[in-house]
Amino acid sequence: MVKIRIIGGTPLEGSIQISGSKNASLPIMIASILTDQELILDNLPNLSDISRLELILCNLGAVIERGKNSQASINQNNTDGSRTRIKLQEFLSLNADYENVSKMRASFLVLGPLLAREKFAKVSMPGGCAIGTRPVDIHLDGLKKLGAEIEIEKGYVIARARNGLTGANINLKKQSVGATQNLMMAACLARGETTISNASMEPETKDLIIFLNKMGANIEVSGNNTIFIQGQERLGGANHKIMADRIEAGTYAIACCATGGRVTLNNCDDETLELPLRLLQEIGCNVRKTGDGILVENKNKELSPIEITTQPYPGFPTDLQAQFMALLTQAKGVSIINEKIFENRFMHVQELVRMGANIILDGDKAIISGNSTLIGAQVMATDLRASVSLVIAGLTAIGETVIDRVYHLDRGFDSLEKKLSNCGAIIERIV
Ligand code: EPZ
Repeated sequence: MVKIRIIGGTPLEGSIQISGSKNASLPIMIASILTDQELILDNLPNLSDISRLELILCNLGAVIERGKNSQASINQNNTDGSRTRIKLQEFLSLNADYENVSKMRASFLVLGPLLAREKFAKVSMPGGCAIGTRPVDIHLDGLKKLGAEIEIEKGYVIARARNGLTGANINLKKQSVGATQNLMMAACLARGETTISNASMEPETKDLIIFLNKMGANIEVSGNNTIFIQGQERLGGANHKIMADRIEAGTYAIACCATGGRVTLNNCDDETLELPLRLLQEIGCNVRKTGDGILVENKNKELSPIEITTQPYPGFPTDLQAQFMALLTQAKGVSIINEKIFENRFMHVQELVRMGANIILDGDKAIISGNSTLIGAQVMATDLRASVSLVIAGLTAIGETVIDRVYHLDRGFDSLEKKLSNCGAIIERIV
């Protein structure tokens, strides 16, 4: 099986081009179900999750053309030279099967759009996950409010809306990112007005709102996490550049600080990373906005310990928790991380401990005694963000680290080894 081998100890120095956001790309691609017109997307990252979603959409009937370095892309100042066209004119199927949905939960978001446009959908329940139970009850309760009849049969959600969906007031019991996006897409083609309160306001949800409005939707947001959607009879084609991946940018900022380096992150938005960057400054790193990005530096500085709690945006993102933990093994003192989004997102802890970290778990709290000298080891990736925290630990450690189950990394980090080795890291893929 393919592994990643790292020889640690080299400070990262240089610049990194940040790719388009995975978690914005996925729902935006799924919005293609809402129209028979063409969508043109720039800045999609090259990731296995994107390829899997392409497959799911093609099974439904989409025609997808993924261009590389086309003249059109270059003229549009498209940063990674990719432009994707998606058109779903006629459906071949209204099903999303277990094989795909269990491997990528975001594909569950096809449910709302299919139901809204075709009045029927059969989508596999996603099942368990390495970071928590991750139920879909909020998605299903919201769709029922919009008038869907829902049955669960042999592990599949079978949803019908014989007379189409009707707008409703939906109050989410938790600020679920996926449920907000699923319900918002469904409501775009429902009759009348839908209000979603306690909605997710993650930057990726905002990018989806911008995109849906370009397609002809009528969506407004109020400051208190409420989304108003006036349903439309149909949506049309649109052209959009996917926002930069704030989690990828945050990951490289943290990796830079852990190795005592100096890195410029290009093509990213510091506003979407306000709290993580502020916390990097609080523990002693330098962070400065540049033209189209961020300069991060940690030269000859002792890092201070800190307490962090993961929360919905604008709180600290759970998707950067594992990476920050790897960094805090290097702080001078005891740090605490409270994981409040997922109940089982500490799978990286035992692997970090195998590398010499001193971390104790107490329920949803991790207590990290810093000042550890990490030593390279053979470690196992368990999920996307856990695996990149092991990369950060490996870059910081003395000697060789070999990370198994690299396919987790390929789901969410475009050209990871190339971007890191361009900054001086010794990192390669081995078989
Ligand atoms: C999105 O997952 C992201 N995925 C995750 O990114 C991210 O960690 C998460 O939001 C939180 O920010 C995508 O955008 C594709 P949620 P999502 O619904 O939508 C509970 C990554 O590494 N919940 O906001 O699935 C749930 O169990 C990933 O890129 C219910 O109880 O997350 C969790 O505790 C992984 N019932 C909390 O809400 C529901 O019906 C937040 O989950 C739905 C969610």
